[in-house]
Amino acid sequence: MEREQAIQRIDVLRRLIERHRWRYYVLDAPEISDAQFDGLMRELQGLEAEHPDLVTPNSPTQRVGAPPVKEFGTVRHRIPLLSLDNAFLADDLRAFDKRVKRILGSDALPRAIQLPGAIDLEYACELKFDGLAVSLLYRQGQFALGATRGDGHEGEDISTNLRTLRSIPLRLLVEDPPELLEVRGEVIMTFADFEALNEERLARNENPFANPRNAAAGSVRQQDSKITAGRKLSFYPYSVGETSGSPFRTHDQAMAYIRACGFKETPAFHLAPSIEEAIAFCQEWQAKRGEIPFGVDGAVVKVNDLSLQEQLGATTHSPRWAIAYKFPAAEEITVAVMTPVEVDGSTVSHASLHNEDEVRGKDIRVGDWVVLHKAGAVIPEILSVLAERRNGQERPFQMPANCPVCGAEAVRLEGEAATRCTNISCPAQVSERILHFCAVMGMEGVGPAIVVQLYKTGLAKDVADVYSLRLEQMVELERMGATLAKKLLEQIEGSKQQSLRQLITAFGIPQVGWHVADLLTQRYHDIEDFFQVSGEELQAIHGIGPSIAESIVVFFRQAETRRIVEELRNFGMQLRDTSSIQENEALPWAGKNFVFTGALATLPREQAEEMVRARGGTASSSVSRKTSFVVIGEKPGSKAEKARSLGVPILDEGQFLEMLTRVDEKKGNHHA
Ligand code: IVH
Repeated sequence: MEREQAIQRIDVLRRLIERHRWRYYVLDAPEISDAQFDGLMRELQGLEAEHPDLVTPNSPTQRVGAPPVKEFGTVRHRIPLLSLDNAFLADDLRAFDKRVKRILGSDALPRAIQLPGAIDLEYACELKFDGLAVSLLYRQGQFALGATRGDGHEGEDISTNLRTLRSIPLRLLVEDPPELLEVRGEVIMTFADFEALNEERLARNENPFANPRNAAAGSVRQQDSKITAGRKLSFYPYSVGETSGSPFRTHDQAMAYIRACGFKETPAFHLAPSIEEAIAFCQEWQAKRGEIPFGVDGAVVKVNDLSLQEQLGATTHSPRWAIAYKFPAAEEITVAVMTPVEVDGSTVSHASLHNEDEVRGKDIRVGDWVVLHKAGAVIPEILSVLAERRNGQERPFQMPANCPVCGAEAVRLEGEAATRCTNISCPAQVSERILHFCAVMGMEGVGPAIVVQLYKTGLAKDVADVYSLRLEQMVELERMGATLAKKLLEQIEGSKQQSLRQLITAFGIPQVGWHVADLLTQRYHDIEDFFQVSGEELQAIHGIGPSIAESIVVFFRQAETRRIVEELRNFGMQLRDTSSIQENEALPWAGKNFVFTGALATLPREQAEEMVRARGGTASSSVSRKTSFVVIGEKPGSKAEKARSLGVPILDEGQFLEMLTRVDEKKGNHHA
């Protein structure tokens, strides 16, 4: 073909291919068949082979990757890629709204009239993608540069790798593209593709990735872009960075424009007319996060008006016009020992620091001042370091080669975040399991100091033992008065009513945190189901892959698990989903079964039974494994014997009445 003609035909083909790529990968609505698409591609490849000098990096033929590079170039971000401030509670979002209105009210005088608190601001609400942040630069509508976020100011040039992503246009689809357009967003891998990738890797004897985010980040930072091309990655845009001449006034307009350019639509995007509606969005998606096929760690709420965004500006760390509402995260507990502080009403002196990369990423050093929060409102976590408070004495942290408690070798498996002691009966591991259980089950007072003592004294060697603790044993512990001991026993008692989801999370099954527990308890409502279920059935749940399924099956196959569950049952633990139990659920003794034997001194048995029923419990005449308590009066007889042999707790009349008063008091407090 004549050169001139070839140039023209190549241009037509590239446009056509980009358009059909968009129909297929972005809209999920192809207009032509795969064979037709391949035909266009082959024609273009043929012409490029004839005229190699006409090959450009942005030709669709280049999406398969290019020769490997030794290292990535550095890219300076002209507008830094900042972080987001975090919110954990609805009230944090309300405080954000107040702050925004206050700043706008005083900084922009004319606005003071428009924004006297009562007037609401429009907020754009989005999901917070848990992937890898990247910036894409387009010049004259052509993809020119793709970079990682890096430290926010400087990132790495990963253009060649990003070109392989079919959800990133190589040329913008709009008629009259701006001179310069920077699109920012996140590269993600879906749970399904992550599982498939890990399966392949295991089959090839390669180490699996720890999570989809690591898989996405690892794939995009490959020196060989052909490897990136083989990975299933998607790009979701969330904002416009630098632009030449800004044609839009609001964030939602900007997002609509980017979509017209050929990018994916932000899933779940919502314009909220008030902070209350933005809060509803956050809570709705927190509950529905299991429906999203990829990792989402929160929602982002942004002031929609771009000129207001500009007025609000940013701190060195984050913009004042946006906030991330973080969904609760399950964390493993390890040790970062700190000066005790009050957080959310309880004293915290330890936080999760199991992840060496995070310690490095956040640059947490021994001696640092840190900002704390409670992940999932339970487990303390270090958010950031106050570097400005350093005095030069701080030492970087070095992970030890041996377990500091039992001395066994400590290893970090590739693809895993945590370094682990290799000794399963290591005392620290056992007491950590108990501690994790207590924290997740809401026994806030049962902290590390107590658990370590319980373990050392032999009072609690596993999680079920916690429920056998008696007041006289508790008060023997160091720094434990009767008042505190009573409070802890109440917390222990109260934890029996926690949800099945909480219980599953509390067991600390490897790879099963809040999210997976949530997926599981949407399907299964009784602990017994978990003893029956097969790995295949588990894998039918969206978001549960072979390795998680295996972990669950292995856990429930162990005799030890059965033993613990039976003990928990005998202690009256709620082992079914409470939402499937009707009406009586709100009552304190729902699910509890009492058996009375022998003559009671202060009241007739019928009356005692009635009192149990009034509090949601049941009363029966014979003792079995299902019995929660046997109450003995005078001349108890064989029922007491049977209770003893089955390990059912036995109460005397006084203890029964005490328990009764306690639940009634608790209920009273509730209403107060
Ligand atoms: S807007 C100035 N929107 O979260 C920062 N960020 O913690 C504006 N992220 O670096 C960011 N989803 O990589 C925004 N819908 C979303 C997001 C999002 C994920 C990431 C982003 C940012 C990090 C901040």
